[in-house]
Amino acid sequence: MSKLENDIEKILVSQNEIAETVDRIAARISKDYEDKNLLLLCILKGSVVFFSDLMRKITVPMQIDFMKVTSYGKGSQSTGNVRILLDLHRDDFSDIDILIIEDIVDSGRTLSTLVEYLKMKGARSVHTATLLDKPARREVEFTPDYSGIIIPDEFVVGYGLDYSERYRELPYVGILKPCVYKK
Ligand code: IMP
Ligand code: MG
Repeated sequence: MSKLENDIEKILVSQNEIAETVDRIAARISKDYEDKNLLLLCILKGSVVFFSDLMRKITVPMQIDFMKVTSYGKGSQSTGNVRILLDLHRDDFSDIDILIIEDIVDSGRTLSTLVEYLKMKGARSVHTATLLDKPARREVEFTPDYSGIIIPDEFVVGYGLDYSERYRELPYVGILKPCVYKK
């Protein structure tokens, strides 16, 4: 852990702030989904930490499932393409209220594409929750239903978020030192 921490320039969202945000979003979801048939949908891989914290704070019954999509290439630049690498295979779409859990909304392409896709599959309802939101980077109009923390236009890592598949295990969200990108 300490070795990774040497690469962090600044902690943007602390463990405490993350925990408070998870509690706040979980309370709202628990209220809104009381009479629904909640399917909590984890978007791999970045959302896995937020997802697993959130699911344990939500107090209504749920099912969980996973999809894997990619919109980014290897580094920190968006390609603008959304590809489904792992799909949902279910025969009960018309009975389920899907809540997509994302780590961060950036251009908005991933979530706007996924919402349309899952509606097309016949889901009874499709909503979205994100821990982080970078509204300054939007390329398509998209507003998450549940949004944790608005952050500035900075590339962040930790709490599930990666740079070239690293730093996901950091317990907070931070900004990398510029020299890391030059390696
Ligand atoms: P969007 O489709 O542009 O909204 O991108 C969403 C996805 O891009 C997220 O699920 C992340 O995987 C990735 N992403 C966007 N911004 C960041 C960042 O600052 N750090 C790490 N991953 C990011
Ligand atoms: Mg992601």
